Amino acid sequence: MTTARKSIHGSWSSRLAFVLAATGSAVGLGNIWKFPYISGEHGGGAFVFVYLLCIGIIGVPIMMAEVMLGRRGRQSPINTMRALAQEAGADPRWSWLGWSGVTAGFLILSYYSVIAGWALAYMFRAMAGTFTGATAEGIASIFEQLTGDPERLLAWHTVFMVLTMMVVARGVRSGLEQAVRYLVPALFVLLIMLDGYAMASGAFHQGLEFLFTPDFSKIDANGVLIAMGHAFFTLSLGMGAIMVYGSYMPERVSIARTSIIIALLDTLVALLAGMAIFPIVFANGLEPGAGPGLIFQTLPIAFGHMDGGLVFGTLFFLLVAFAAWTSAISLIEPAVAWLVENKGMTRVHASMYAGIATWGLGLLTIFSFNRWADFHPLPFIPIFKDATLFKLLDYLTANIMLPLGGLFIAVFSVWVMKRDDSLQELDMGDGAAYRLWYAVVRYVTPVAVAIVFLNVTGLVDFSGLLGLAE
Ligand code: PHE
Repeated sequence: MTTARKSIHGSWSSRLAFVLAATGSAVGLGNIWKFPYISGEHGGGAFVFVYLLCIGIIGVPIMMAEVMLGRRGRQSPINTMRALAQEAGADPRWSWLGWSGVTAGFLILSYYSVIAGWALAYMFRAMAGTFTGATAEGIASIFEQLTGDPERLLAWHTVFMVLTMMVVARGVRSGLEQAVRYLVPALFVLLIMLDGYAMASGAFHQGLEFLFTPDFSKIDANGVLIAMGHAFFTLSLGMGAIMVYGSYMPERVSIARTSIIIALLDTLVALLAGMAIFPIVFANGLEPGAGPGLIFQTLPIAFGHMDGGLVFGTLFFLLVAFAAWTSAISLIEPAVAWLVENKGMTRVHASMYAGIATWGLGLLTIFSFNRWADFHPLPFIPIFKDATLFKLLDYLTANIMLPLGGLFIAVFSVWVMKRDDSLQELDMGDGAAYRLWYAVVRYVTPVAVAIVFLNVTGLVDFSGLLGLAE
């Protein structure tokens, strides 16, 4: 049985266009800002090891599943899930999986945009020569000045949201393909350059050792969950972003091959960023666990001291903002597609409403770095003792909502959807590759996600077994 659904939102012009857009979604703040600082907070090597393992055994198979569902459903994730559930003779309430994705996208974008605003602000500081010759303390105080000032944060957050909603309003196809085509290679070049600087910093070896020598006594159950959550976050999985992009994907494109390419590119960007940052951290006696400000407190030191640092610094933060932009677009696209499909709105109106709501929610994050920096809403839960609203938002979305979303995507794809349908949609023949995917998504992925969750809640304790920290 062939389904000939067509997306009312149009489709990508080619296979390359889909790869570019999905890579644009995956590569973002997650790689350059978040990966280094959470690796630093959770002890380095062991964390990176778990993260890489999760990319391989959870990320790639779920990405294939999510793209496949999107391409078969050809609608916003909410309507796709309903249609596919009906097709499989299952409960149409599977559409709530789309709803939880839309919610996660809103929540993530609300803080994502604030951090992207930091990159914009830093682009101008780099251009103005603020970092030239500055010491590590000087750089740290620049960061504190920025994050301590809610008005400035609000201004940059506003600029970033407006830029994002402008693209979303025009439709994700026009412009996006071109932007990503140049952005990702340029980002690679700059990161490699920064790695070159890090190599000469005198602490390159120490940086690599920190990142790549696993010491499992440095990571606890919560760290494992954060590593797994980050695998979802960095690949844009579990909330419908990749599903909605898949719904614009032309037929006859290998979902398996594209998913692997995207995961490899994404991982490479993260590792290059980590390899640039940690040597600078150690060479300057900084703290690897410095938190969300890590890249903003380290990379400017490099730019302040290298030849051409003014130009490269400006370009680097411009590219980071760009990378964030192409990810932000995919965070809100599921909501906008649904508003267009179900509420009969134009894309312009849908983008405006969705954008304004997200912008307002962003205030929670902005205040988390200044006025409400001491507000810890959940002091009675040990792991959240010192968590601000921003931290809780990030935890809730990246470590709970995305993995749960991914778990249900896996369950749906192989337990609910008919095997013939996934076989047809993945279009890779009924050989070893398909069977491996099927078995992994059916057993390995759900069990792995469940174990990590149970371990954190303390219901089951594998920590001793794996030699993790208590
Ligand atoms: N993958 C993006 C990043 O690494 C963030 C993102 C998460 C985008 C979820 C879409 C969906 O920055």
